[in-house]
Amino acid sequence: MQNIFSMILPKGEIHLYCVSLNPSNVFFEKCKSALSEKEQERISYFKFPSVQKNFIMSQGALRLLLSDYLNIDAPKINIGKHSKGKPFAMDDTELCFNISNSGANVVFAFSRAGEVGIDIEKIRTLPDLDQLIEKNFSEKEKKFISKNPTEKEKRFFKFWTVKEAYLKAIGEGMRLSPDNLEFTFENNKYELDAIKGVFEQEDWSFTDFSIAADYAGTIVYKDKQTKISEIKFIN
Ligand SMILES: CC(C)(COP(=O)(O)OP(=O)(O)OC[C@H]1O[C@@H](n2cnc3c(N)ncnc32)[C@H](O)[C@@H]1OP(=O)(O)O)[C@@H](O)C(=O)NCCC(=O)NCCS
Repeated sequence: MQNIFSMILPKGEIHLYCVSLNPSNVFFEKCKSALSEKEQERISYFKFPSVQKNFIMSQGALRLLLSDYLNIDAPKINIGKHSKGKPFAMDDTELCFNISNSGANVVFAFSRAGEVGIDIEKIRTLPDLDQLIEKNFSEKEKKFISKNPTEKEKRFFKFWTVKEAYLKAIGEGMRLSPDNLEFTFENNKYELDAIKGVFEQEDWSFTDFSIAADYAGTIVYKDKQTKISEIKFIN
């Protein structure tokens, strides 16, 4: 299969991509044929067509992008999983990546400068917003999120992506409950203030990005000097 993006990733950069879950037929077929033999087999077992389509798009696009960076045929790329579920490229473990999907979009971050975490959330009305705030945030965070009623939903989703992207950068996922983390937002910057429990406490940088006005997004990485590329939209 021919590479479609031909990308080189310098060490000091993070590349971001956004793929629509409602793609053109051509791109859908490209993603489908990028799947590995096992994944091709797996898609016939999905019960719901929408779940099948989302899998084809996120896994297929991931393989196409990895194929460009690694110069290996997309279906032949070996994707492994760390103990708590974070996927990685077995063919080149220095090429770190992370994925997130929400609404009709999936985003990808690639880095050669250490682990990376990415999270997006479509900003939407949640009937259990107050319970979610209560359950997942510290007193200080709750105060900040709820201070301005018109900003509440937006701040909630923004803080949510900050926590989630951090948990994904360190690869912990669900192991760590988000109310164990406390972030502050000062001088237009998010910072990790406190962690309860035992886990990595290195310096991480948090950068805001957005794929559309009704989306919140955060990318988390280690080296402050890293240049985050402008997001590329593919469909
Ligand atoms: C794994 C987890 C991080 C995924 O989050 P999500 O919002 O459901 O889904 P996203 O689309 O953002 O991310 C999914 C992708 O993350 C990646 N992922 C899976 N486990 C991961 C882990 N431990 N670390 C990093 N990335 C992981 C996978 O690529 C996955 O894609 P896939 O399902 O197609 O394989 C999630 O299950 C989790 O543990 N969340 C944290 C707990 C929480 O309650 N957070 C609230 C914040 S206030």
